[in-house]
Amino acid sequence: MHIGIVGLLRGLYMAEWAQRIGIEVVAICDRDSERLAAARAEFRAARAAEDWPELFDAGLDGVVLANDFDAHAVLAIAFLDRGIHVLSETAACVSEEEGRRLIAAAERSTATYSFAENYAFHPHTRLLRESVDSGELGGIALVEADYLHSLSPEDTAALIGDPAHWRGRIAPTAYCTHTVSPLLELTGAWPVEVSAFPVGPGGDRPAAVVLAIRLSDGTLALARHGFLAGETGSHWSWFSVRGAHGLAESIRATGEDAWSVRVRKEGWAQADGQLREEIRVPVPYLVNDEPIDRMAEGTVAVLEGFRATVERGIPPLIPVRPAVAASLVGVAGAESLAKGSGPVLVPDVSA
Ligand SMILES: NC(=O)c1ccc[n+]([C@@H]2O[C@H](COP(=O)([O-])OP(=O)(O)OC[C@H]3O[C@@H](n4cnc5c(N)ncnc54)[C@H](O)[C@@H]3O)[C@@H](O)[C@H]2O)c1
Repeated sequence: MHIGIVGLLRGLYMAEWAQRIGIEVVAICDRDSERLAAARAEFRAARAAEDWPELFDAGLDGVVLANDFDAHAVLAIAFLDRGIHVLSETAACVSEEEGRRLIAAAERSTATYSFAENYAFHPHTRLLRESVDSGELGGIALVEADYLHSLSPEDTAALIGDPAHWRGRIAPTAYCTHTVSPLLELTGAWPVEVSAFPVGPGGDRPAAVVLAIRLSDGTLALARHGFLAGETGSHWSWFSVRGAHGLAESIRATGEDAWSVRVRKEGWAQADGQLREEIRVPVPYLVNDEPIDRMAEGTVAVLEGFRATVERGIPPLIPVRPAVAASLVGVAGAESLAKGSGPVLVPDVSA
């Protein structure tokens, strides 16, 4: 399988993993000539381009879009219209209108659209998925997720303080995909309504937000993302699922322990009346028979899923509609923030 990569920071990491698992990177693209030159030193045989339309005739089966967060849909539509499979970084779109155009492009294309949402396939999320799917928790009532970084005010400003960079210009609610997308995956539900609350000082640009999202199956989802002190340096990601009969949640711990999950099944909900509480440790994810860095597992799973879609016609791990739905939570969340945290309907893109 031959792929091209647009955007060579996150994209270079994806390119390196793609190559390691046997996907051939035949084209690389970045409008920044220094980034392009640095990547070229690593991928000498790949065609190098500063303009992404140059990749149309580079013999690609698929393209990985890791350009600016708020500019993926334009490229995705253009590649889909040329029959090139797309694996797009998060977000999928920045408005309902753009999201609907992306869905239409994916559905008329001979190629496929996959969302590169690695947080839905990290070790702790996979354990939670197994727990939910087994039915051991009973009907799901409340799901929660954090994607938080514990940076100093100076480091936060350095990351999101430049309005010319996408990190500085996107709405504070926009980067909700690493929390919302896995929650949609876990529940199989769609977002219906969101209220967004700013956390801490910052006026129009709070460093963190809390989203309260009503899902189509009645589940309440709470998602927190942004910059808050105190988060462990592990991997910035925490999930919790509360069902009628118990709870499964990742452990707030340092280091590798944060990938493990605590499961509690209430005694009164068990046939034998016995309370069960246990810590589950994820099995290693193997590449070429070797365990890989836990932090890379979600990314490798996403790349392997993309290959299965392109080569074997397996449905995308996260296809276009749930990708657009997760992204529109951020869009509706921004509207909610602007109106003092009032509830805002999320457009229904489920069908
Ligand atoms: N899934 C994850 O864990 C994860 C981690 C990091 C970043 N990301 C996502 O990856 C994307 C990129 O993030 P980043 O941190 O690498 O951002 P970045 O701004 O550091 O890098 C983006 C690169 O894309 C290039 N670029 C932008 N527009 C381009 C265009 N039209 N043509 C050619 N090159 C273009 C820029 O020059 C830059 O080198 C974002 O959507 C971000 O959310 C995801």
